[in-house]
Amino acid sequence: MLDIKQRISEILAEIIPALDSGEIKQMLEYPPNDEMGDVALPCFKLSRILRKSPIQIAEELAGKIPADPKIAKVEAVSGYLNFFLDKEEFVRDVLSTALNKGNEYGSRDMGKGRNIVIDYSAPNIAKPFHVGHLRSTAIGNSLYRIFNFLGYNSIGINHLGDWGTQFGKLIVAYKNWGSKDSIENGGIKELMAIYVKFHEEAEKDPSLEDEARDWFVKMEQGNEEALQLWQWFKDISLKEFQKVYDLLDITFDSQAGESFYEDKMPPVIEELREKNLLTESHGAMIVDLEEYNMPPCLIIKKDGSTLYATRDITAAIYRKNTYDFDKCIYVTGAAQSLHFEQWFKVIELMGYDWHDKLVHVPFGIVSLGGEKLATRKGKVVLLEDILAEAIKKTLKIIEEKNPDMDESEREEIARQMGVGAVVFSDLSNNRIKDVSFSWDEILNFDGETGPYVQYTHARTCSLLKRAETDVDPNFDASLLTTKEEFRVIKTLYLFPDIVVSAMEDLEPSIITRYLVDLAQDFNRFYHEHSILVEDEALKNARLALVLAVKHTLANGLNLIGLSAPERV
Ligand code: ARG
Repeated sequence: MLDIKQRISEILAEIIPALDSGEIKQMLEYPPNDEMGDVALPCFKLSRILRKSPIQIAEELAGKIPADPKIAKVEAVSGYLNFFLDKEEFVRDVLSTALNKGNEYGSRDMGKGRNIVIDYSAPNIAKPFHVGHLRSTAIGNSLYRIFNFLGYNSIGINHLGDWGTQFGKLIVAYKNWGSKDSIENGGIKELMAIYVKFHEEAEKDPSLEDEARDWFVKMEQGNEEALQLWQWFKDISLKEFQKVYDLLDITFDSQAGESFYEDKMPPVIEELREKNLLTESHGAMIVDLEEYNMPPCLIIKKDGSTLYATRDITAAIYRKNTYDFDKCIYVTGAAQSLHFEQWFKVIELMGYDWHDKLVHVPFGIVSLGGEKLATRKGKVVLLEDILAEAIKKTLKIIEEKNPDMDESEREEIARQMGVGAVVFSDLSNNRIKDVSFSWDEILNFDGETGPYVQYTHARTCSLLKRAETDVDPNFDASLLTTKEEFRVIKTLYLFPDIVVSAMEDLEPSIITRYLVDLAQDFNRFYHEHSILVEDEALKNARLALVLAVKHTLANGLNLIGLSAPERV
């Protein structure tokens, strides 16, 4: 497919000797409305270099542009140089590319041979899978898919929180207030309840904290009783997490959690020592980061136990050796930004030149009706409950819209759309922004939502089905002349670049926003024009457009981890 900005910047480079085509390409814009052309050069960007007013520059350039088969006309308007594409050429080019590539439209092989490690989801054992972990899971899963689509080899790691002092607390809590039966039956909720109880009791009796620390030290020393309890807590938790992953349709390449690094930490600690990076402070071992305006990075506690950062440093070295990554991406809440900054620095101080391949991708807080979703106090909204509620609500909407669909199909579609609604809403804001969760907003089939995009995709499928013929790839591009059709085609054209931007900015919301735009453009066309018309040639050309939209919506949905059901 023709790169129109590229083509125009090459033409302009011939007549603006002061700049090369790459610099010009950066300046080109897609104007907000079609009357202002399809691509524009805002000439104020050249004023300083050419020492002329934007109006003068635009007019002079307009007079010098040579004829080009891809460009229908060029206009100078108030300091902008507006290019109008030859529509027929452009329509043919975009639609045939989208039709030929089908479910690969938008993909590239730019990442060939390069590994991208993505560390995401990472819930904590014996604690609930909450809405914050959903954000990590949804963003990480989307990045995983985007990198793969661009030819990279993504490696998804669920760095489970399955090691640390909290297990000492849990063991103490279990011994004091738990029972085998209540935990077998109550699962994570019961583990959570005794964990909360521990914190309440420890406020009154601080010696419980010491007891808990002792148990974690025992775990690190390989004490059998401690490890058996830990394994049991872990199995119970994993079983429940798996339910969520099944609903979300997510798998990982590795579930090596924090405990996996237990036997890999001693050599790393030794290495830190040899490199003279460890200093003692109040009995603990730290890496001093004062010079870098950061608090010290704690490596070993006074009682000899290791920490979250110790495991992250060890895991990064292990992953570099195992996967030789081009990037190692960590998707967590912004509250952990300092943690990552600190230990990335430690990796740099260790002399590893790949420290700059470690990337923290932070995100904002999720709230429900304005309330922060805390875990310590036990007031927490479980993701599983939210998903179940979303599916239930969607089922009701589908029953009303489509009463004669059979039950098992309806249930599967309700799962795909209910889960899709939650995930889409989670992804649709810039990830760093805090989000507030509202049922009415996320399930609105006419709003900027997952169900709206899925519904539009199903509409394209139903049109293609009702047409009862296959789309002839030799469609007549000259028949797609309405402004609504051209708008859809211009949006389709943008998709491959949108995918690259989402990858570069590590920002799935670029895709959600695009999908809403494309769905809106398509629906405007659908409402203004008949598609299944008498005229065979026109019908076929419009169906080609419908099919290209179907592929693009499906590909985009897939990149954010949503299903694209054919019917809703
Ligand atoms: N388990 C942590 C949490 O729930 C997230 C882990 C993120 N990954 C990492 N390598 N630190 O906050």
